[in-house]
Amino acid sequence: MHDDRALRVQMLAEIDSAIERKVSFPGYWYGDEEISRFEQKYVMARRWQPIGPVNGLVNPGDYLTATVAEVPIVVIRDKDGTLRGFVNMCRHRGHPVAKDSGNCTVFMCRYHGWTYRQDGSLIKAPRSEREAAFDPANYGLLPIRVGLWGDLGFANLQFDGPAFEEEFATLIRIAEENQIGIAKMSYRKTLVWEQACNWKTFMDNTADCYHCRLVHPTMGTTHKTDPDDYVNESYDTFAFHISHSRENHANMPAWMACGVWPNWTLQAMQGRVSNIRILEIVNANRIRVRTDFFAPPTIGEPEVEEAADWYHKLVYGEDRVVCEGVARNIMGGRFEEGPIFLGSEKVMQDFQIRYRQHLQDLKI
Ligand code: FES
Ligand SMILES: [Fe+2]
Repeated sequence: MHDDRALRVQMLAEIDSAIERKVSFPGYWYGDEEISRFEQKYVMARRWQPIGPVNGLVNPGDYLTATVAEVPIVVIRDKDGTLRGFVNMCRHRGHPVAKDSGNCTVFMCRYHGWTYRQDGSLIKAPRSEREAAFDPANYGLLPIRVGLWGDLGFANLQFDGPAFEEEFATLIRIAEENQIGIAKMSYRKTLVWEQACNWKTFMDNTADCYHCRLVHPTMGTTHKTDPDDYVNESYDTFAFHISHSRENHANMPAWMACGVWPNWTLQAMQGRVSNIRILEIVNANRIRVRTDFFAPPTIGEPEVEEAADWYHKLVYGEDRVVCEGVARNIMGGRFEEGPIFLGSEKVMQDFQIRYRQHLQDLKI
């Protein structure tokens, strides 16, 4: 039996100390399976998570399945046109009630045949009429919350906490004002890969551009990546940075990036192709990165392909090398903690402050 309450208290003390002393998370936070399990259960499973494009859910009964923090979910457009989400789990023995994606009028579990309406209520459990004490009202599918930004769906397994529109009001406003938001864009393509590092190593790397000059030399030829030249600001749920193009590449759009608490990012060339990445925990030292690309209707497929290639091979490929290098030393047990330079990488500490707030608010 895990003592999650005690672990929360210990983590709070350690994060307080790290913030106070202006240092990184303790090294073991990046490689410890107990911490990783705690984060999956009490961070990812308690926050809004991108689940991928839902623009295919057009007609009543269209549904798709996905996974949020290891919990299988199903999202359906119901007969009234509302998007609804449920844990993809029959209340009888826990078998999934939906497979892949498709269209259905009801959810029928393929194990013993329990059948649910699109609003999740149980219609029928075969032979249940013989059981006097059985009340179908107690056995509806477990609902989850669903949010939408353009074509991209979000899910939250929790009913506590801010609504989607509230949680991301600032992010969406700033992103849309800067033409990197996806409200008026359409979904184009997805890339998925795994990499050998902790999700926080990845988010630390996304937060700062202290590393950009050295790690992204090609980008530095077109964009201003010197620490004094780019804008790096923190807001409620995210950190935002902007690299403007160099004078000799003035026709190139600015490059912008947001690291969003806890585990997703928005990156874009202003007014062109945007992408949203979600980091799924595989284990303490492995993540699955899913990148969904979006672009305005005026941008053709060749430009989307070119942008996706640029991100994947160049920027993300370069970041991956340094993150995996860091991870090897963390897994070797050699990294204890390192300083955070508030003049250059304050956003990394802002991430810790959001993490501390989450731990403080957490109900276990
Ligand atoms: S598990 Fe679904 S009907 Fe038995
Ligand atoms: Fe980078």
